[in-house]
Amino acid sequence: TIAKQNHRGAYHFSPRENWMNDPNGMVYFKGKYHLFYQHHPFGTTWGPMHWGHAVSRDLVAWEELPIALEPDEHGMIFSGSAVVDRRNTTGFFGEEPGLVAIFTHHAEGTGSQPPVQCQSLAYSMDEGRTWTKYEGNPVLRHDSYIDFRDPKVFWHEPSAQWVMIVACGQTVCLYRSPNLKDWTLSSEFGEGIGSHDGVWECPDLFPLPVEGAKDQSRWVMLVSIGDHPGFAEGSRTQYFIGEFDGERFIPDASSRENVRWLDYGRDNYAGVSWSDIPAEDGRRLFIGWMSNWKYANLTPTNGWRGAMTIARELRLRECNGDIVLIQQPVRELEAYRKPVVSLENVDATAAAKRLSGLRLESFEIVARVRFPDSSPGEIAFRVRAGAGEETVIGYDAAAAEIFVDRTRSGIADFHPSFACRHSAMLEEAPGQLALRIFVDRASVEVFANGGRVVMTDLIYPDHASTGIFVAADDERLRIEALDIYDLSV
Ligand code: FRU
Repeated sequence: TIAKQNHRGAYHFSPRENWMNDPNGMVYFKGKYHLFYQHHPFGTTWGPMHWGHAVSRDLVAWEELPIALEPDEHGMIFSGSAVVDRRNTTGFFGEEPGLVAIFTHHAEGTGSQPPVQCQSLAYSMDEGRTWTKYEGNPVLRHDSYIDFRDPKVFWHEPSAQWVMIVACGQTVCLYRSPNLKDWTLSSEFGEGIGSHDGVWECPDLFPLPVEGAKDQSRWVMLVSIGDHPGFAEGSRTQYFIGEFDGERFIPDASSRENVRWLDYGRDNYAGVSWSDIPAEDGRRLFIGWMSNWKYANLTPTNGWRGAMTIARELRLRECNGDIVLIQQPVRELEAYRKPVVSLENVDATAAAKRLSGLRLESFEIVARVRFPDSSPGEIAFRVRAGAGEETVIGYDAAAAEIFVDRTRSGIADFHPSFACRHSAMLEEAPGQLALRIFVDRASVEVFANGGRVVMTDLIYPDHASTGIFVAADDERLRIEALDIYDLSV
């Protein structure tokens, strides 16, 4: 059956058939999480973009619904967002609020004419099943930018208006509107700040409380940056922390000084957050496209291509005087856990013994490790291990680095950049390491120290490569706790 296909994640969303890229229009409405996505319904590579549609009650089990938006006289349907128009500011609805999608229309260029990108609306009165395009489309054009796309819209309560953040070349523009139809430019952000290693895409902007700092909150801006041949990392997502007054985003000093990456793996791109999460829930929920423009069109799946990351909660944490964005797997995933191993206070040799003979394809590892003071060692898990294959995930205490090595992870020869090892500093680990590792049929997602460092990477192991090993190079290293859960839903 489809669910058991090689490389189709057991607990990750992927389309039944054909191509998928960015998550779009994520919105919570009437008890359901909606996920729309960039979709080419007639081919397994990028092509004329539609919005596919899926819904879930728990952010883990998704039901794919019919296509939501199709190309029209203004062009293809590129990325964008969706909101609940509770006050009927658009006049599209009566008593009952409905959904409005705000997306980019992309018209291909012809001859010497460059392509045109502009922002448009569609609305739905039946919970996103069917959509009507607004007859006044497009609602926003730009007279100088060719790259003008991926509008993310939210209601800004203090100024009682809609705000749009949209990518413009290598900056973002902020607009405001009373009704989603008439837009006024508020400001532009991005010159001389952040990474400009590629075109800016798929921005997002939202406030978050700062954990551990009473009554403090900050605004977070996400900006994805496109692939550039000069950088092995390919497409990736940066973030800024600052303040926002409804018109202007002012970055904190630390965001002016350093580029900050959302994820240190290669496969978390174009992610944005859910709109309209009820206040009593209060979470900022995120999902990303689990691929990379470097090789997205070449990944070795059959009949379909593209998957999302697991859904994550974004938070801000104070960390050595700095404020950083952390990601944690949504708690809904815990309901799917089937306990397999539970160990306390053992050394790596004892843990390795307990793991020998285990065979798992889709699972979660939760580990708490204490390193001896004097000897900075290394601990590594080898997952999806089989004949000549393994993906290595570990922590090198001497370098204070988390790493993922997928050089021998399975099929890796479809692009020269795919086989690689990469690492990220985990600065605040004084001898203590907490790891959550999600492994599925074609991915690993590593959350270190409560989501302080995250690495998301695709892998293409043989379905028979299901061994799990753990090893450490210092006998004194203690595994304070190790739990493994089967997640093969
Ligand atoms: C990001 C992106 C967006 C665009 C979409 C097209 O991956 O390039 O900027 O809207 O994909 O599919």
